Amino acid sequence: MRHDQTSADLLSSAYALRSISCSGLNGDVLIPGDKSISHRALILGSLAIGTTRVSGLLKSADVMSTLNAMRQLGVDIAEDKTGDIIIKGVGLNGLVTPNAPLNLGNAGTGVRLLMGVIAGQRITATFTGDKSLSARPMRRVTDPLAEMGAQVSYLPEHDASGLLPITIAGGTPILPVDYHSKIASAQVKSAILLAGLNARGTTTVTEPHISRDHTEAMLRHFGLTVTQTVLDGGRHKVSLNGEGTLHAADIVVPRDPSSAAFAMVAALITEGSHITLPGISMNPQRIGLIQTLNEMGGELTLSNRRVEGGEDVADIEISSSNLHGIDVPEERAASMIDEYPILSIAAACAAGKTTMAGVSELRIKETDRIAVMAEGLRRCGVDVHETEDSMTVTGHYDQRKPNVISGGIAVASQHDHRIAMSFLIFGMVTKSPIIVEDVGTISTSFPGFAALMNRAGARIERES
Ligand code: S3P
Repeated sequence: MRHDQTSADLLSSAYALRSISCSGLNGDVLIPGDKSISHRALILGSLAIGTTRVSGLLKSADVMSTLNAMRQLGVDIAEDKTGDIIIKGVGLNGLVTPNAPLNLGNAGTGVRLLMGVIAGQRITATFTGDKSLSARPMRRVTDPLAEMGAQVSYLPEHDASGLLPITIAGGTPILPVDYHSKIASAQVKSAILLAGLNARGTTTVTEPHISRDHTEAMLRHFGLTVTQTVLDGGRHKVSLNGEGTLHAADIVVPRDPSSAAFAMVAALITEGSHITLPGISMNPQRIGLIQTLNEMGGELTLSNRRVEGGEDVADIEISSSNLHGIDVPEERAASMIDEYPILSIAAACAAGKTTMAGVSELRIKETDRIAVMAEGLRRCGVDVHETEDSMTVTGHYDQRKPNVISGGIAVASQHDHRIAMSFLIFGMVTKSPIIVEDVGTISTSFPGFAALMNRAGARIERES
């Protein structure tokens, strides 16, 4: 692993891949470690007292950006002979002022969670990122942090929009907050909770629906009490008391359900497929896609459910299936927010309409994922209707008549890993191959994606 490799390096290694129709995927597919949990393992391991060993860390560009930032903040992090990561935690007040800006590359989770951490420290740090991250809204995090007393500053031209670069200056003590978020966002919630670790008193975040709770689970794993309450209408409240101590504890990172999503859909839509994905995280806030694909008629079976390193995991078996369209309810969005691009590919291969409601957050991810998916699908001859917060895809694929969707297009990844992987999966069933340009971005979350898919039977080739 090259710890100094940033997502900027990977993005500069721009090349294109071509995905050609294939005759099904087979065998065991070992999906890499969970990205959300990997970021949190590095951050919380750094803030704990003692040494944390992390097995199965996702060694992707995004996670390396967080690892490099923690090192710049004075934390000793090394890889041992087995590939495990060893973090020598410095405690809740042990970070040091970095001597250069923290460049989080493409990592939205890294930058937003670390802004929360720095807000609770007596040090100052400036955050930067790549072009895509620098266009993403940060006030959703910096506004509540400012409410807690953090000194946040922007470039004069970005003051209103709240874009990177952003400096958070320590010095004033951080105060607890009772924050009511308009959106269900684990990044917002986690940033506030991480700042709250150093606030005297109780910090509370309430969200309209529960978002992924990996921060809460890992804080508990490190010995802190975190309370979670379900309120009326599905609202969700989480609280912690500041000024506690995190005690180092080993972490086993489960395999990422958001990366598994690409293999799941690939196997469902290609004829003659039967694959198994061992050890996928079954965190209830991450499995909305499995439920959705089951409702669409997908043959996905969970087995061998177990707890590994404190996380629920299961093996997922998937066989090619004839899918049909459904209405995906708004309340499910938080539990599958990263999976809509690949769901729209499944929807294009299903009989009838699939409507995805309450997905406006997709417009402010690494790209506007509704617009980019809609455009690419339409160019392949698929009918897509979009509103500000919904997308409806009319599928017309029938597995008994393969290759009825034209394909034959070149898609720009727009530096969005999930867009790039979604269209490469689509190329497995279209009449003519799909080319995806600038695929270096895939390494932000799923290094080795094409090779792994090819070992199972895909035909994804480098475009010369
Ligand atoms: C993440 C939360 C989600 C998700 C992102 C990872 C996390 O973002 O889209 O890929 O690890 O906390 P939001 O919090 O903006 O919904």
